[in-house]
Amino acid sequence: MDKMTDTAIATLHYGDKSLQLPILKGTVGPDVIDVRKLYAESDAFTFDPGFTSTASCQSALTYIDGDAGILLHRGYPIDELANNSSFLEVCYLLLNGELPNAADFAKFEGNITNHTMLHDQFDRFFQGFRRDAHPMAIVLGAVGALSAFYHDSLDTSDEHQRMVSAHRLIAKIPTIAARAYKYSVGQPFVSPRNDLGYAENFLRMCFAVPAEDWKPNPTLSKAMDKIFILHADHEQNASTSTVRMAGSTGVNPFACIAAGIAALWGPAHGGANEEALNMLKEIGTVDKIPEFVQGVKDRKYKLMGFGHRVYKNYDPRAKVMQETCHQVLAVVGDPDEPLLQVAQELERIALSDEYFISRKLYPNVDFYSGITLSAMGFPPEMFTVLFALARTVGWVSQWKEMIEDPQQKINRPRQLYTGPAKRPYVPLDKRG
Ligand code: SDX
Repeated sequence: MDKMTDTAIATLHYGDKSLQLPILKGTVGPDVIDVRKLYAESDAFTFDPGFTSTASCQSALTYIDGDAGILLHRGYPIDELANNSSFLEVCYLLLNGELPNAADFAKFEGNITNHTMLHDQFDRFFQGFRRDAHPMAIVLGAVGALSAFYHDSLDTSDEHQRMVSAHRLIAKIPTIAARAYKYSVGQPFVSPRNDLGYAENFLRMCFAVPAEDWKPNPTLSKAMDKIFILHADHEQNASTSTVRMAGSTGVNPFACIAAGIAALWGPAHGGANEEALNMLKEIGTVDKIPEFVQGVKDRKYKLMGFGHRVYKNYDPRAKVMQETCHQVLAVVGDPDEPLLQVAQELERIALSDEYFISRKLYPNVDFYSGITLSAMGFPPEMFTVLFALARTVGWVSQWKEMIEDPQQKINRPRQLYTGPAKRPYVPLDKRG
């Protein structure tokens, strides 16, 4: 695992001390300054709220060059994977490090396909939610509850059990997500079928009804599969870091993924796709864009689906998502969808406006996904559920990498204390 090479030294002068800190190089991307011995040798911490300059781990899964707008999974560019691979093949790649040969892929796909069902008693778990619960609340609870049903393989120190749990999560998350949707619309649950592909099986579990035969649409199944690939993994984002933080305590993987789902739900992170569509609907028509943009500049609200902590260029996923949006609208919905016109004009205006240019704000993966998913029949409250469904493979692959990293230990950041200095207790009758 340890691919870092220790080549040079950074010297830190602090008070009367001069510290020699190793500089570590990865395969590609910024070097890191190894500060692990800083506190022991200087009695000082580093300070980096939001971790804008901090590498929390070493990883071989995903590389992002934010300035160049590059995203690689195990070295393969995201657009090449999205346009040539399948989501399950990308799952194999993220989990195992290499694209599978035909025999290995058939075995992996067969394993996932044969574990998509949930324990029969699990379905009663859904009945405990209000019908108007947000589907993310249901998925969050259900994934955490998996540790109450599948506790025969929770020994994180056992490689085989780690892979069993990883496969179970990848296999069952579409069934859970589809059940969350069906429950929210008051329709009966639809069981997975072993003769359908991963994305097609999910679409059928969401949109099939007992009253009529479900008609597959290869364009939509392919689009769904591609959207899953675009959301599979993304380095040490907030929800992945949450999964790693939880996993560093040794808790079971189902609880870790539930923690990741909770973090993803936030509007600054995975909840942005739902907010971006709501924003486009609020703008409504192209002529209202200038007034909305002025509101952004006046800091009344953010431009949802724009900006990124790492990408200071166009998010490469957004390009593929826009292409997918056109493909979907050509088959369902309106190729001249007014919201797409608004989105494209908003993007054009933002990319030519100094306020956004100076802040390096570009569309991210969430900007076009809402229009696409809406045209496919999903309500906005399901958008982040779809993000979580796809990101489950990234979370579980990062969790597995962390467990297998010999340098890994329980995550325990420190702080800059700014509270009161030590003071004596004051009894109630002595307080002013
Ligand atoms: C995802 O980390 C990942 O990899 C996440 C993700 C993944 O796959 O896991 O890529 C998925 O979460 C994509 C991002 C989805 N979120 C949104 O679309 C919400 C809108 N975006 C913003 O909230 C924001 O851009 C963030 C949260 C994504 C990034 O915030 P940062 O890195 O803290 O940005 P910043 O505060 O340093 O911004 C710099 C400037 C600031 O202006 P000034 O104070 O310097 O004048 O840009 C402004 C910000 O106010 N700004 C925006 C803006 N994003 C940043 N202004 C208007 N609209 C925005 N969207």
